[in-house]
Amino acid sequence: MCGIVGYLGTREVYPILIKGLRRLEYRGYDSAGVAMINGSGHLNVYKRKGKVSDLENFATGNDTTGTIGIGHTRWATHGEPNDVNSHPHYSQSKNIVLIHNGIIENYASIKEGLKKRGHTFESQTDTEVLVHLIEEIKQHDNMKLGHAVLAALNQVIGAYAIVVMDKNDPTTLVAAKKGSPMVIGIGENEFFIASDASPIVEFTKNVVYLEDEQVAILRRGEDLKIRSLKDKEVTPYVQQLTIELENIEKGGYDHFMLKEIYEQPRSVKDSMRGRLNAEKGIVSLGGIVEHEAKFKNAKRIIFIACGTSWHAGLVGEYLFEEFARIPVEVEYASEFRYRNPVIYPDDLIIAISQSGETADTLAAIELAKSKGATIIGVCNVVGSSIARATHAGSYTHAGPEIGVASTKAFTAQVTVLTLMALHVARIKGTLPESRFRQLLYELESIPTKIEQALKLNAEIKDIAFKFKDSTNALYLGRGFTFPVALEGALKLKEISYIHAEGYPAAEMKHGPIALIDEEMPVFVIATKGPNYEKVVSNIQEVKARKGKVIAVVTAGDKEVKGTADHTIEIPETDESLVPLVSVIPWQLLSYHIAVMRGCNVDQPRNLAKSVTVE
Ligand code: M6R
Repeated sequence: MCGIVGYLGTREVYPILIKGLRRLEYRGYDSAGVAMINGSGHLNVYKRKGKVSDLENFATGNDTTGTIGIGHTRWATHGEPNDVNSHPHYSQSKNIVLIHNGIIENYASIKEGLKKRGHTFESQTDTEVLVHLIEEIKQHDNMKLGHAVLAALNQVIGAYAIVVMDKNDPTTLVAAKKGSPMVIGIGENEFFIASDASPIVEFTKNVVYLEDEQVAILRRGEDLKIRSLKDKEVTPYVQQLTIELENIEKGGYDHFMLKEIYEQPRSVKDSMRGRLNAEKGIVSLGGIVEHEAKFKNAKRIIFIACGTSWHAGLVGEYLFEEFARIPVEVEYASEFRYRNPVIYPDDLIIAISQSGETADTLAAIELAKSKGATIIGVCNVVGSSIARATHAGSYTHAGPEIGVASTKAFTAQVTVLTLMALHVARIKGTLPESRFRQLLYELESIPTKIEQALKLNAEIKDIAFKFKDSTNALYLGRGFTFPVALEGALKLKEISYIHAEGYPAAEMKHGPIALIDEEMPVFVIATKGPNYEKVVSNIQEVKARKGKVIAVVTAGDKEVKGTADHTIEIPETDESLVPLVSVIPWQLLSYHIAVMRGCNVDQPRNLAKSVTVE
């Protein structure tokens, strides 16, 4: 969750740290801090509750010089967000500082021991314990910083990405990771460290993704050294970054979320690029080619994911059952990992994750792996932990998603799952050729239809204005659009703090209908398809109880138009592809409502972009 950044080189470090923290702020924004060693060897630490801008205001006018430093933006786990609990944390002597992303699970017992040996602590964090331990080991065994970090981490249970800096050795940074991401950028006589590549990309394209249980030692004037926790030397594997600076900037939009909503015609197209050729009747997913037999023979597919990715998995359930006739279960990773699920070696697990770092999804993958199942990943972030933990997979190619509310990642995930389901249907022969071809053409036209849906923005903004002061909302869908109802409700609640529920339309009369009165907006997807008439009846039920109905309908619809309070007409497409287009109005609606309510759209309260703690 937290964002970490570090620099060692020839440039002034403070602007690099601040810019890096701004780019990583989506990962956590309770508090922020930096530490730099200046030219006279003095260690300056500034940390503050609040945003990176609060930290900047606090540090203004103070000494921020130096060419080595570390920075942190926090999403609190242990200890409330305040100045003291902010990172960096000091060792006992205050000579060593450390930043951390993750949780040290056995921190309480380590802290007990340290206290008995005379250590005193300022914060309630697990992190402070680790930096005390590192210093104790370093002093006791007269070790270099790198070895002390290695020895300390061998005593630690939990997840971490850390960077450590010692005032007495201003030529060295030590970084390590287990279960939390970390990238090291290698420039000319300089190193960059960050939780993701966004703070690095404008300086160098040469990066090393640190693996779990590795410690990196960065020394001025030397090559990068990596050692395993077992103290074996590891040869760094240098890769080229593929993202560009423009991918991680707002590009003239007020918020990343809006930019990302508008990027969807492109991101859906990119997710299909080279994989779909309707004219030739071809769907190919290179990443899963070696596992085609597994797909063909799978008795069952289990999707594991969290949040929006879980909603994409639900769409995947409808797609795989409809096209490939394989039974599907969709599991919350956090539930799956802590029960004793029945998993057979011929089960196929599809793990979906935008970030590729979600701790629960990662743990669920490891559990399924241990039972012999084959794991396929659908991730957005190349080289992420989940992408590496799976046996095979297909990337979504949505590009960096920075807004905390997931938008383009969802449509890219659904696109890839559609391609996968069609591909498997082809292998299994479960779809007639004519239907298969028709679906390929329809899928190819989706980016244009999303573009048309985006043109409804002004109309949707007007509707948003009418419902911005609601305290509750109900989202309904049926069949393929039920997951979109869940996704619409999640978007509204997470960024505008309006309580919202997504329901299968027919389930409404089993409880939620009791909530309906003239104050209650009910957002319904009522596009043409096999369930249309049934959804129209559900709309009548809402209207009979004076609820306000806002319906997404197929262009040219007359029936719902006559009943609903507002209709939003989207282009017609195949029922199975409606999620890709019908989600757009709900994304725009929640965006505008959140803006009108004065909410921080890109950084909603209490949330963080990648949930790397359970
Ligand atoms: O990176 P992941 O796709 O694994 O993240 C899963 C959820 O944390 C994520 O989708 C979350 O629900 C979003 N904030 C939803 O907008």
